[in-house]
Amino acid sequence: MSGPQETEPLLDTERGTVNREAMRGRLRRISRKVHDTVLKPLGRPSVYRPVFLALVILNTIALLRFFFGPKPPPKPHMLDRVCTTPDCVQVSYELLHSVNRSVDPCDDFYEFATGGWRASHPIPSDQGLFGIGQFVLANNNKILENILTGDVQPSNRADNASLHKLRTFYGACMDTKHQDKVGARPLLDLVYELHEELRPATPEALTSSLIWLHKQGIPALFEAAVEGDPGHAPLAATPLLSPGGLGLPDTTYYEDKSVLKQYHSMISSAVVELVKAAHKEKRAASMFHAADADKIADAVLEFEQTLAKISPDVVELSDPIATYNPLSRADLGKLSPALDWEAYLDAMSTSGVSPHKLVVASKSYMERLSKVLKETPQKTVHAYLYWALVREHGKYLGPKVALGEPARRLNRFANGIDDDAVENRDSTCLDAVSTALGYMSGRFYAEATFGPESKSQVEDMMNAIRVAFYEKLQKLPWLDPSTRATARQKAEDITIKVGYPTTPNTESASAIWDYYAPLDVGRSYFDNQVSAQKFVVDTAWSRIGGSLNTGLIGDLMPSEVNAEYNAPQNEIVFPAGLLQVPYFDPRWPMYLQYGAFGTTAGHELSHAFDPSGRLFDKDGFLDDWWTPETSKAFQERQRCVEEQYGNRTVVGPDGTVYNLQSKFTIGEDVADFGGLAQSYNAWKAKVRRGDAEVHRRNERLPGLTEYTQEQLFFIAYGAAWARNIRPAETVKRLKTDPHSPTKYRVNVPLANFPPFAKAFGCKAGKHAMALREEDRCEIW
Ligand SMILES: *[C@@H]1O[C@H](CO)[C@@H](O)[C@H](O)[C@H]1NC(C)=O
Ligand SMILES: *[C@@H]1O[C@H](CO)[C@@H](O)[C@H](O)[C@H]1NC(C)=O
Ligand SMILES: *[C@@H]1O[C@H](CO)[C@@H](O)[C@H](O)[C@H]1NC(C)=O
Repeated sequence: MSGPQETEPLLDTERGTVNREAMRGRLRRISRKVHDTVLKPLGRPSVYRPVFLALVILNTIALLRFFFGPKPPPKPHMLDRVCTTPDCVQVSYELLHSVNRSVDPCDDFYEFATGGWRASHPIPSDQGLFGIGQFVLANNNKILENILTGDVQPSNRADNASLHKLRTFYGACMDTKHQDKVGARPLLDLVYELHEELRPATPEALTSSLIWLHKQGIPALFEAAVEGDPGHAPLAATPLLSPGGLGLPDTTYYEDKSVLKQYHSMISSAVVELVKAAHKEKRAASMFHAADADKIADAVLEFEQTLAKISPDVVELSDPIATYNPLSRADLGKLSPALDWEAYLDAMSTSGVSPHKLVVASKSYMERLSKVLKETPQKTVHAYLYWALVREHGKYLGPKVALGEPARRLNRFANGIDDDAVENRDSTCLDAVSTALGYMSGRFYAEATFGPESKSQVEDMMNAIRVAFYEKLQKLPWLDPSTRATARQKAEDITIKVGYPTTPNTESASAIWDYYAPLDVGRSYFDNQVSAQKFVVDTAWSRIGGSLNTGLIGDLMPSEVNAEYNAPQNEIVFPAGLLQVPYFDPRWPMYLQYGAFGTTAGHELSHAFDPSGRLFDKDGFLDDWWTPETSKAFQERQRCVEEQYGNRTVVGPDGTVYNLQSKFTIGEDVADFGGLAQSYNAWKAKVRRGDAEVHRRNERLPGLTEYTQEQLFFIAYGAAWARNIRPAETVKRLKTDPHSPTKYRVNVPLANFPPFAKAFGCKAGKHAMALREEDRCEIW
């Protein structure tokens, strides 16, 4: 989660040698757990006393029924039965292949729960990582591919036309021969367009070229988006300007000499290729001389270094209060006079209404940016803008076109991908379709994969998790009554959206067709992508003067593998793409559903109460509804979590050891802690209060009968985070991804969660996976 929105978000070959001795030991140890029953009370008995009373009363009623009533009570040993349905057999098989039983779950649970899966799912050569999320995405892509390449001909005209549009986009992307034949020309045309924008060499020309770039979704100098105004009107469409426009993934990359050396050579080769391409097209390359390539790269690099220096760090940028700076456009003009803000805002808005108010994420950045622009030679700023264009759009050229190479190289470099890696074009193109025409492909995807059963089960789970959270609120001693009551109200008011958007209405063929009608799609993949970017920007800015589109599913697409808590709308979103095996299956035993998916649902709920989410009220206003003492108590607990993650490390490609940036990941870490606890408690309550049908849905798994339901809950949780990742990608994520590495997302919350230690018999002081009470953290 960065600011109020979760945007990251959340699985056959050779198997490693299994250490048989260790495995036998493991089976014995685990088998001691077999007799733990699910109904045993948890950690703190006093806390569950009311539930117990209720159970006693229920039991009494059941007994009375037994003696006097017509129906026998549910058989208590139901939970010891084994589920032998094909779905249970299938999921058992998957779990058996996920675990590495030669690892002691009390030493390193992540390794235990995922070792088998990770050994058999290597990272594709053109990717920086491969985990369960990518595995699910690959499956989703296969479904999409079947739709796009099959011979389905929908009978209604709108769907038929939509499918044709999707197929055209996908076909253009796959046709690399055509792209290579066309060569650099489409990008070169844009370079000359930018040249025209810049030619007048006036201050206005800078603004107009910036408008031109931003309209195509190219971040330069800063980034512009349309969000709510959380101080005054959370749903009022308002421009948000944030620091941005750097080529490297994060500001800290600009401090590393070896990184800068590589980046420098990408920029200089872009200059050389640009001049070559212009010559080839017999056009005058008056903007650059190839002989100056190195000097130009020096200047651009230095300019980006300066931008990096004046940018706040990621921690500051994820603070919703520090980044909320509402301004009138006159104020912005005074703060940052180097650009013509009247012209900028008028041109960006496509609604006919000119925005008079806006929000800037960092006033000091906008102020210093203006100074930097005045002090930097115009030629340098121009070169930076050309580079931004080539860097962002170069990736849409054919794979053999040299002008696209700097962009491709930059991408490989950032993700630690080998230079000779072969791109999987299918998956690139399927991803491109789901991004550019995502609501359209989402209609066909949802039709193929998503049933009402999934929707109702997810809603039911979410509500059970919400109730578990209410119960938890009652028990937390550090919350005062008023903060507690307000927290509960906020949780009650959270809207749950499952599956796909209502605006555009996914269930209507014509609504989907109409939504994308302004977006032209043809044979040129480059043009299609440029139009798609423009469409996204124009659609966002068309809301100015009105309100945000609340019928969407956050900023996610239906086939996306992610989930989101959206603070300004106090809503949780689960796209259809996430509700797939091995995160979710409506036919799975309940403990797996809660372990693999419920923890994510609880994670999203906890975002409403994480260090930044807690600063929003139930209506999406940035508002401190906490009493000072409770706020202080929260911060103490937050520091406890921060310290634990801050002490964990990862290793970069050159062997450098990095500590996690826990001040940056704290929101996600707190949500992971809360998600685990709430989902576990919700599941336990379901079983405790459940009838025979609930017990049937909690039968054991075939081939895994040595594991209790509790153990399987945790195994499902760990297995859902299996991921292989390259060291360079790890470092990039450390600096840019607000989530901790998956290993720690599993191990840290579990080591702090007593029911886990109890389920696996881990001993505090002896095992890494069981912290002593005085070392444990808990927030929600
Ligand atoms: C399982 O863990 C052991 C001990 O760490 C290791 O030697 C082995 O390679 C792992 N097996 C698999 C399949 O990952
Ligand atoms: C569907 O679209 C295809 C291609 O655009 C067209 O040839 C066909 O006639 C259309 N069918 C219907 C039922 O509209
Ligand atoms: C983590 O690091 C802090 C210093 O930043 C130290 O005080 C603390 O004891 C460490 N905690 C653990 C559990 O290692």
